[in-house]
Amino acid sequence: MTRSVAMPAGGREGEGLGRPLQPGVDTSNGQILYLDDITVSFDGFRALNKLTLTIGVGELRCVIGPNGAGKTTMMDVITGKTRPDSGTAFFGQTLDLSRYREAEIAQLGIGRKFQKPTVFEAMTVGENLELALAGDKSVWASLRARLDGAQRDRIDALLVLIRLQDERRRLAGRLSHGQKQWLEIGMLLAQEPKLLLLDEPVAGMTDAETDKTAELLLSLRGKHSLMVVEHDMAFIASIAERVTVLAEGAVLAEGSLAQVQADERVAEVYLGR
Ligand SMILES: Nc1ncnc2c1ncn2[C@@H]1O[C@H](COP(=O)(O)OP(=O)(O)OP(=O)(O)O)[C@@H](O)[C@H]1O
Ligand SMILES: [Mg+2]
Repeated sequence: MTRSVAMPAGGREGEGLGRPLQPGVDTSNGQILYLDDITVSFDGFRALNKLTLTIGVGELRCVIGPNGAGKTTMMDVITGKTRPDSGTAFFGQTLDLSRYREAEIAQLGIGRKFQKPTVFEAMTVGENLELALAGDKSVWASLRARLDGAQRDRIDALLVLIRLQDERRRLAGRLSHGQKQWLEIGMLLAQEPKLLLLDEPVAGMTDAETDKTAELLLSLRGKHSLMVVEHDMAFIASIAERVTVLAEGAVLAEGSLAQVQADERVAEVYLGR
């Protein structure tokens, strides 16, 4: 395959597929996300209370914490869905997320997986991936356009990655719940996010699907930075490196899973549920 000579050093395969280049994210200090002193109040109730947290480039960070701790609200702040009352959120060293709208933040390279899968059920698995690869082109324009070789290779690779290579021509609506979740992860990956946020990705999955999801996320580590929120502790144990425990809108503890599990304050917040 011939590559454009204009491709910047460090340019990756998704570039040159007709999407605008993502503005550079400066991660020279090794961090992809920096939340500093973030507070979010709903009618006086502090869902986030001076939350400070950083994620390293290529890291797979697990975030746990009791119901209502502020985990989803934190993802809402990162993706621009909720604006903090105070504090700052930086993507890399230089991109102040408060200056971007929700759609722009997605374009910058922050992908988010919600709990409920949002695939196009009346289209095939392959078509869903084609649409995701096409980015903002209209649905019909992108489905009518013939895929070039690079795009076909990319879809083949994504299908293998998300374990749906045998389901390419199947309607997405016919997939199991777990398979739909993988398809949605594949659609997010088609857009080459630098940071991927996953809120309760294995909720509702069978044990076998949960194990495969763990393998999938482990295989993404290093290539993407990931933040995974989950209540399923067996799943967390199978993927955990560094674990952050949120409680009452702030970081209560951070470290290896063994370290945070040995922390008395962590045991207390879970007992107090
Ligand atoms: N839009 C909103 N308006 C009012 N209160 C909200 C809003 N969004 C979240 N909250 C409140 O903020 C707190 C934190 O909620 P959040 O959904 O972030 O918790 P969570 O850690 O994701 O919990 P869970 O584990 O149950 O998903 C909760 O008390 C919730 O009721
Ligand atoms: Mg939540």
